[in-house]
Amino acid sequence: MNHAKYRPFPIFTFKDRSWPENRLTTAPEWCSVDLRDGNQALINPMSLEQKLAFFKRLTEIGFKQIEVGFPAASDTEYNFVRTLIENDLIPDDVTIQALTQSREHIITKTFEALEGVKKAIVHLYNSTSALQRDVVFGMSRDAITGIAVKGAVALKALAEKYGREKFTFQYSPESFTGTEMDYAADVCNAVLDVWKPSGEGKVIINLPSTVEMATPNVYADQIEYMSVNLNYRENVVISVHTHNDRGTGVAATELALLAGAQRVEGTLFGNGERTGNADIMNVALNLYSHGINPKLDFSRIDDIVKTYESFTGLSVHPRHPYAGELVFTAFSGSHQDAINKGMAKRQERGADVWEIPYLPIDPQDVGRGYEPVIRINSQSGKGGAAFVLERGYGLAVPKAMQRDFGEIVTRRSDETGGELLPKDVYDLFVEQYVNVSDPIKFERYKEVSNGRIYVVSEITSNGERREISGSGNGLLSAFSAGLSDEFGVRFDITDYSEHALEHGAKSRAITYVRISDENGKHFFGAGVSESVSKSSLRAVVSALNRKLKTVD
Ligand code: KIV
Ligand code: ZN
Repeated sequence: MNHAKYRPFPIFTFKDRSWPENRLTTAPEWCSVDLRDGNQALINPMSLEQKLAFFKRLTEIGFKQIEVGFPAASDTEYNFVRTLIENDLIPDDVTIQALTQSREHIITKTFEALEGVKKAIVHLYNSTSALQRDVVFGMSRDAITGIAVKGAVALKALAEKYGREKFTFQYSPESFTGTEMDYAADVCNAVLDVWKPSGEGKVIINLPSTVEMATPNVYADQIEYMSVNLNYRENVVISVHTHNDRGTGVAATELALLAGAQRVEGTLFGNGERTGNADIMNVALNLYSHGINPKLDFSRIDDIVKTYESFTGLSVHPRHPYAGELVFTAFSGSHQDAINKGMAKRQERGADVWEIPYLPIDPQDVGRGYEPVIRINSQSGKGGAAFVLERGYGLAVPKAMQRDFGEIVTRRSDETGGELLPKDVYDLFVEQYVNVSDPIKFERYKEVSNGRIYVVSEITSNGERREISGSGNGLLSAFSAGLSDEFGVRFDITDYSEHALEHGAKSRAITYVRISDENGKHFFGAGVSESVSKSSLRAVVSALNRKLKTVD
């Protein structure tokens, strides 16, 4: 590697900028370029049928502007536009957009493709950067402006021929970020002078970061500079179109919105040339997570991911913001604990506002459940396993027992070396604590009350049936006394809780107990039965069995 081969980005700072102090309060106009920029970047571009289905999906999400292609570039693109128009497949509130180079015959073909459309944006572009002027075109600034103006004139004339009122004009100085700002403003103003935007006929000036060349703050400075230096400003909609070469396409879009951009072009999940375009879903849900209505519907994100993956042949990374399989999942113990506590507090307080540690949005808002929020491996802790047991199986395991079980979970996932699924966690809990019947198996009991309580119980120990009896102030103490005498172990019940497992007449109860032996060691057990009394006796036997099996 040789960094000396590269140069710093030439300093451009718009001294009078105000964007760092600004706040976003509303969603911009969105324009999906999935079917054009996204499609042109695919190994296998979409077929006509796929494009039609994708178009429908985009309208369902709520896009009101959709760039449908570059109709002069290929028959598929042309036919797609024709199919949309001729079959009346464009909803009334949706405007399609067609891209054209600034060359007369291409503009003409674009209008032919759009014949009969109710409304469309015609998107004219030519490249303006210093590098492209030098190495691609070998042309001066004036000559490049000449190309833009010639195209603008042709476009206007054709729009008049096909019905001026149907068309919105858009101009992009392609490679804008590599263009000197004074020149970028000059060329855009030259185009605006041809189109003469007005209240009824606003013009879109789209300022692409065709190649992302600098940090997002530089892009924001460039956008604010243009916002101040464009003529006809009140009748110009400033649009941004960022690519992601430095990995900050979304950030650049957001700062550009602060800097005055009113419209955003981008694609779902950021598909597009090279490292992609700005991910519109990401920008929209970032707004959403700040309480701003994004006016796009991502409430069924998994379905959108499926459509996208099947049509593009690409896959959404498991850690992709908002959409990845793992983005609402915590493996680490401390994160799980905090999420668990946050969820419990939220429920307890009946809070409307979403404030859960490590979860910037509620997974349910994008159609995800809570179950996969916490997944268990050897990095997980007690909170994670408790969350899984509570959310998935309705078990309110007491705090001290959670800690005990957390260690068991960690040991098990260390042994298996992988993730434990919720069912594995539940099975492990049952295997370790619930109705444990080895070496002592609880069979039945009879309560003989006579002031104090006497309990006669039948148990099986190591295959041998025995009857034990004990007395005490209550069922549990009498039963424990009987067990202590029979097996020669002293213990006290130091923690007890119970709850119903299911609702309804035949509901079962679960009881959790902690016993403490004469050395102060604790053992946990749980019992399940249709009778609360039986579940508590089983819980004591389970805990005692765990003690008997523990080698000191
Ligand atoms: O990235 C780009 O500059 C483009 C233009 C055609 C807007 O896609
Ligand atoms: Zn692009």
